[in-house]
Amino acid sequence: MADEKKSQQGEWSSRFAFILAATGSAVGLGNIWKFPYITGENGGGAFVLVYLLCVLLIGIPLMMAETLLGRRSKENPIHTMEILAKEAGAGQNWHYLGWLGVAAGFLILSYYSVIAGWASAYVVKAFFGSFSGASPSEVKAIFDGFVASPMQLIFWHSLFMLATMLIVVRGIEKGFEKSVGLLMPALFALMILLVGYAMTTVGYFQGLNFLFKLDFSKLTANSVLVAMGQAFFSLSLGMGAIMMYGAYLPKDVSIAKSSMIIAGADTIVALLAGIAIFPIVFSNGLQPNSGPGLVFETLPIAFGNMFGGWLFGILFFMALVFAALSSSISLIEPAVAWLIENKGFSRKKACLWSGLVAWVLGFGTIFSFNVWANVKLFERTFFELVDYLTANLMLPIGGFCIAVFAGWVMKREHSQQELDFPDNLSYVLWSFLVRYIAPVAVFLVFLNVVGVL
Ligand code: TRP
Repeated sequence: MADEKKSQQGEWSSRFAFILAATGSAVGLGNIWKFPYITGENGGGAFVLVYLLCVLLIGIPLMMAETLLGRRSKENPIHTMEILAKEAGAGQNWHYLGWLGVAAGFLILSYYSVIAGWASAYVVKAFFGSFSGASPSEVKAIFDGFVASPMQLIFWHSLFMLATMLIVVRGIEKGFEKSVGLLMPALFALMILLVGYAMTTVGYFQGLNFLFKLDFSKLTANSVLVAMGQAFFSLSLGMGAIMMYGAYLPKDVSIAKSSMIIAGADTIVALLAGIAIFPIVFSNGLQPNSGPGLVFETLPIAFGNMFGGWLFGILFFMALVFAALSSSISLIEPAVAWLIENKGFSRKKACLWSGLVAWVLGFGTIFSFNVWANVKLFERTFFELVDYLTANLMLPIGGFCIAVFAGWVMKREHSQQELDFPDNLSYVLWSFLVRYIAPVAVFLVFLNVVGVL
């Protein structure tokens, strides 16, 4: 493949820009909203350990695999799989992997936008001082009242989806790079501040204990699947988002180093969120397993009672919304790039149609919290179903296929050339993880859940 080829959509201006964008994709609601509440639902420490192992043994090698596939072809994920399968002399069925990813992206974005809408609404609530001096039960009442109103959720969901589309319409260089560089450090600083507050609460050590003390009796087959799914979700893996970003990556950037930096930053933010939230849970007699509302029922208590909490509350929810925006754009970019490159759409038209589809799907999630709260399929609401289907099935299946492709189908000299390790040992280690550990782990976890093991 010609080395000079660039993606039609442009290219990152530097290695730093790529790391920023990919970190922007990885760090989002997954770290601050989802990680704490599923950790709470799955019993704490042991779940966290499984999660960390998944990030290390499956996530990082797979992130490298996705980046290298994208960079080699410089195309959207569907086309990438077509081109690379041809190059490797493999069948054309591999492009279905691209399709699976595009579908997962739409489904995830549909609910991601609803939750990001909650965060947006909380900026306004914080601004009007709704949390100042509020008791835990008042904070919970604010949340319950809010999600009970479909109209309010629709409003904020629509606003967030519109913002996502406006950024994607401007394309990668102009839209993505600048906003992320400013807001990621801000979010990070605010997380540290919240951890500082958590340290002053009476439940601090109880919170840490919950988060880090290993109690394997609480670990079920399903929680292992949820932990693995979360590793995929949080690192934006298994659907082609990172592949897409890899396509915009210049040739001279080290994929291994970037992947480790991105995964490291993502993991630190998730752990900080846990360290900030669980002490608040235990200090106020709340339950760790209260579900998707957890962040919205705990952090406002901190803002309502800490010095400068009014301002920090506004800043925090704003930073969260921006972190969500830098993630949501990566959920839709593969579909948009495919519509442009393969279907001849203009960027505007591609954004409009993709946004519309995800927006409509989002209504299912909105109603899951109010009018359809009791409508269940397989004991799950629409939101829970979409979440389970994407994070626990589609992403791991996508990841499994990507690992098999990069490890077994692609020619060794090609992956070696893209990864460009200074020594052979690193390549052998990566190759071992991608060929054996990642696919086998995903397979075993699935077997385990189905109850075969
Ligand atoms: N990783 C993001 C988060 O943690 C969500 C996300 C963005 C994502 N792009 C993705 C998840 C692609 C899966 C696949 O909030």
